[in-house]
Amino acid sequence: MPSDKRSGEAATVKMSELKGRPVSIVEMGPRDGLQNETTQLSAAVKAGLVDRLAASGLQRIETGSFVSPKWIPQMADSAEVFAGITRLPGVRYSALTPNMQGFERAVQAGADEVAVFAAASELFSQKNINCSIRESIQRFTEVCAAARDAGIPVRGYVSCAMGCPYQGEVPADDVAMAVRELMALGCYEVSIGDTIGTGTPQQVHEVLSRCLQETSAGQLAMHFHDTYGQALANIVAGLQLGLNTIDASVAGLGGCPYAQGASGNMATEDVIYLLHGLGMVTGVDLSRLIDTSHWICSQLGRQNQSKVALAGLPVARGL
Ligand code: HMG
Ligand code: MG
Repeated sequence: MPSDKRSGEAATVKMSELKGRPVSIVEMGPRDGLQNETTQLSAAVKAGLVDRLAASGLQRIETGSFVSPKWIPQMADSAEVFAGITRLPGVRYSALTPNMQGFERAVQAGADEVAVFAAASELFSQKNINCSIRESIQRFTEVCAAARDAGIPVRGYVSCAMGCPYQGEVPADDVAMAVRELMALGCYEVSIGDTIGTGTPQQVHEVLSRCLQETSAGQLAMHFHDTYGQALANIVAGLQLGLNTIDASVAGLGGCPYAQGASGNMATEDVIYLLHGLGMVTGVDLSRLIDTSHWICSQLGRQNQSKVALAGLPVARGL
């Protein structure tokens, strides 16, 4: 077992032991990525992105979000995006839902899974969803109950787990408390978000170790933005604690509209290169993913943030 909930000590997995293990990638590009891009894409192009990502082997794709269009205009057409995709068997197309209104819209659009998002920082909660952490949990109680009735799985997020743009330091206990509350509501997995990308491997180790006192490694995911260039190292720190679910965004798209200066999630291509280099199993065709990465950057007219996409695959590495 990668963690021991009783003693509070998180065991570390040796690098050599990672070989052959499966990793689940949750692709964030169409949601966390595009929600923060200034260029507005049509719903057809967004759906094309989702289809290309699925064709490259990604099986979990956050396809859009059903939040207030006044708050996040980039996601106003998520229902059209869902209507425009060609569903591949085995792929889960999910959506963010902040409240019942969002949940109902997501169900109507055909989302396979929904996600609720809480924060470990009170100030960030107010800026992001206009309510306290406590109020957000109350809203999610309703969403989770409705999702349970409808047989729809719910994922949870905890933002600002490694620091907050308004509050500064965030105690690991506050992150763990949010994890506990989201699990108690029935979330099957909680993604730990370094929203502003300030975390370092030691901090990630400490925060995740604390979270592992609340739940098992299999129910936690890593969601690292790469603002300070630490995301890949942070992912390794999480893998060594036994976590095996990673959020990432093709081409490193995005940022966070309520976290000034935050860059996108770690680029999916770079994560896949890392994982394949460790001998881990992702099911993703990296070459196809790189093609998609260049394609979406040309649609957006933006610089690609993925080092792997920019460099191209090295000859004869078989990655
Ligand atoms: P509010 O203004 O307090 O809501 O916003 P309200 O209930 O008072 O409603 C105000 C208006 O919004 C009403 O319309 C509602 O109908 C409408 P009006 O009567 O004025 O015409 N409304 C909605 N419309 C469509 N869909 C809905 C919805 N709900 C209300 N679901 C609210 C509260 C939560 C809605 C708002 O603050 C919001 O939408 N926030 C979303 C912010 C967001 O999407 N942030 C980015 C995602 S989080 C993230 O990126 C972090 C993450 O990646 C992890 C990490 O990196 O840490 C997940
Ligand atoms: Mg994010």
